[in-house]
Amino acid sequence: MEALIKALPKAELHVHLEGTLEPEHILALAERNHISLPYASAEEVLAAYDFTDLPSFLKLYYAGMAVLQTEQDFYDLAFAYFEKAAAENIVYVEPFFDPQAHTSRGISFDTVINGIYRAQLDAAAMLGLKCNLIMCFLRDMSAESAMQHLELSLPYRQWIIGVGLDSDEKGNPPSKFAAVFAKARKAGYKLTMHCDVNQDNSLQHIHECLHKIDVDRIDHGINSLESDELCELIAERGIGLTVCPVSNRFCVNDLTGNEIRKMLAKGMFATVNSDDPAYFRAYLSDNLQALADDAAFTAEEIVTLVRNSFLACWLPDFLKRPYLLRIDHIANKFIQTSGVAA
Ligand code: HPA
Ligand code: ZN
Repeated sequence: MEALIKALPKAELHVHLEGTLEPEHILALAERNHISLPYASAEEVLAAYDFTDLPSFLKLYYAGMAVLQTEQDFYDLAFAYFEKAAAENIVYVEPFFDPQAHTSRGISFDTVINGIYRAQLDAAAMLGLKCNLIMCFLRDMSAESAMQHLELSLPYRQWIIGVGLDSDEKGNPPSKFAAVFAKARKAGYKLTMHCDVNQDNSLQHIHECLHKIDVDRIDHGINSLESDELCELIAERGIGLTVCPVSNRFCVNDLTGNEIRKMLAKGMFATVNSDDPAYFRAYLSDNLQALADDAAFTAEEIVTLVRNSFLACWLPDFLKRPYLLRIDHIANKFIQTSGVAA
């Protein structure tokens, strides 16, 4: 299974760049930027990661990213993630970034996006990794602030493939951002939104995503399984669901393997992703391996999930096809080989 997971070319559709900031990197950037932290070692940083739900995670996530100050810091953050991704044979990423988490600390939008974009160009050239950025709005900030950031992004429209919605969901439904997302759609952006697991009004939020916002994808979206009508709509429209098993194990105490299986059985495009791998201590391959080890996912199921990420990604069909052909070629070899050995 480990060799199969490594050999398959993979896509990641739900990873927050700020959530890839490793403890060692937090310490190095703090030193470079003369910021004092209450931690002397990476072990001490890790020991402080005691989140048990979304709000307790977000507190540490925002505290960690405060060390990011300069364009070079954003370059280093993104390039370090791209190197890790390429090493596990991820060939395509649609990563999130959270500009408001930086502009609210006095860092300019241009500083953030220029650093990330430069890393993206270098990752394509040096690592053969392809990437399209998704700009997320923080849903616990105002719709006016989201609109301002949408305006700030427009000069960079060609660098950003879509917009998303993240941060604390409680009391912050998709409909709060209906005008922002309508304008983003007009500007040509693809649309996605987090519907985190077991939030207040999760089902209502998914309903709004589908009926009011007309999203192209849903991030997490596990609670859609509570409604046959919503499941049918998601399957019918071919909407991808970016599930994050190890993140779910932290935030709701469950790898959600059964839920992923139910989605596949209903013809919904479930995909597997890492969310915030430096915090949840698991990158994409670790998430796939966890499903195999702890939820008995078979090689065929893993291949389906890996294929789904390319089907649900926002590349044009002619660019998806070579990846799908390669997956099928590798999967056939592995599954036949293991069949013979058995
Ligand atoms: N949910 C909401 N906000 C976030 C997440 C998440 O999974 N990760 C980083 N910000
Ligand atoms: Zn997320």
